[in-house]
Amino acid sequence: MNDSFVRDLGIQHPLIQAPMAGSTTPDLVAAVSSAGGLGSLGAGYLEPQAILDQAAQIRRLTDRPYAIGLFVLPDEFVVDMAAVIKAREQLDALMEREGLAVRTSLPTRWAPRFSDQLAALYEARPAVAIFAFGLIEATQIRKLKQRNIIVIGTATTVAEARAWAECGADAVSLQGAEAGGHRGTFLHDVDAAMIGLFALLPMAVRAIDIPVIAAGGIMDGRGMLAAEILGASASQLGTAFLGCPESSAAESWKHDLLQAEDHRVTTIRSFSGRAARGLRNRYVEAMELAVANLPAYPVLNALTAPLRRAAAEAGRGDLLSEWCGQAATLVRPMPAADLVGVLMDEYGAARRSLAV
Ligand SMILES: Cc1cc2nc3c(=O)[nH]c(=O)nc-3n(C[C@H](O)[C@H](O)[C@H](O)COP(=O)(O)O)c2cc1C
Repeated sequence: MNDSFVRDLGIQHPLIQAPMAGSTTPDLVAAVSSAGGLGSLGAGYLEPQAILDQAAQIRRLTDRPYAIGLFVLPDEFVVDMAAVIKAREQLDALMEREGLAVRTSLPTRWAPRFSDQLAALYEARPAVAIFAFGLIEATQIRKLKQRNIIVIGTATTVAEARAWAECGADAVSLQGAEAGGHRGTFLHDVDAAMIGLFALLPMAVRAIDIPVIAAGGIMDGRGMLAAEILGASASQLGTAFLGCPESSAAESWKHDLLQAEDHRVTTIRSFSGRAARGLRNRYVEAMELAVANLPAYPVLNALTAPLRRAAAEAGRGDLLSEWCGQAATLVRPMPAADLVGVLMDEYGAARRSLAV
């Protein structure tokens, strides 16, 4: 293990709980950080004031280092309103067929402004910032470093890992094709950048000289050690933490993870307009033919928000964006601090059995 990276992060274990926009809570982040891992707040969908409020809650719960994760997006989007009208018709018809009383509406903004979110992150001053979907600018990296915030960039290919290293990131979160949630891909066609973690890790470790964090399909301590043997300095687990009571994933989603079959975990564009890995459920099948004409991220994400909220409230996991990695069925529902303990026990046992 690259002990010095874990030390630089100020944590005890080579374990990062992934930022998961919409599914992390201050309780989850604080529980993981207090247990010696790095808890991360997925703040991609939060307005700046909510970022500050949740950061303050985390601070009240723990004095340990934690991370905030953001999606790198332009502040303004060009929107094809004809596609929006068509998508609303299709979504409204689906909600009517499924007996959900809500309908789509036009939001005041399609997504929070990234530059305002980043300003809130500067103010919140977490120990670590994790970025996905694109690179940030040199001036932004400088401002983060002036505040002693460690910068982690998400990459899905060797070229993206190099791009983050060249732009001054402190480490790269390497997202294998197995990973749950949105693909971080920003330089390539998403389908071409679906590289398995075992192939991607050694290539990225050889290509760049900053620490590499392994993400995608890691559900237990053995997986963490396997990633380390392939050169990772730490592991970033998302799906494994979705089953914790502190995660805000809907109960029906948590339930469906336990039943997940590996061949039903797939790449989905029809919820947000951007490729993400999750369960192939009733909604995904219903929108299969429509997906090619639906608007891109973040427009579709905003349009499906009322449907996703209503589905969660109605206990309809089959209509919800049930994001998860390929090994979802290995999820273990237990409090986050216990999960950190179990993961590290397994990791220690695996090390001893291999005498590494
Ligand atoms: C529900 C969910 C939401 C996610 N949201 C984010 C996010 O907001 N920011 C981010 O950098 N990564 C996000 N990810 C991806 C994780 O950082 C990580 O790459 C992934 O969880 C690793 O694969 P695993 O889920 O199989 O552990 C998300 C993953 C999941 C499952």
